[in-house]
Amino acid sequence: MPTIKTNSRRLTTIAGASMEAAAELGVLFGCHSGVCGKCATTVLAGLNNLSGPTPEEKAKGLDPARRLLCQCRLTKGTVKLDLD
Ligand code: FES
Repeated sequence: MPTIKTNSRRLTTIAGASMEAAAELGVLFGCHSGVCGKCATTVLAGLNNLSGPTPEEKAKGLDPARRLLCQCRLTKGTVKLDLD
């Protein structure tokens, strides 16, 4: 099953699930629409297991390893976030 990991925790989910599930792992969300930037998180591994950047993410000009988790979905495999 697709898995979201941090340095100390893991959460299994379903393919195509919103990365907003990472709220259970401590990611903070604000607007849920790609505007506020509060959910920006560095992805340490599995970046290619996420859906591609949305126009909202591109507009933010984030480092390619940082994603707005309210904007992406976990399509397969495991993604590791830079969180304790
Ligand atoms: S919660 Fe505002 S950009 Fe993701």
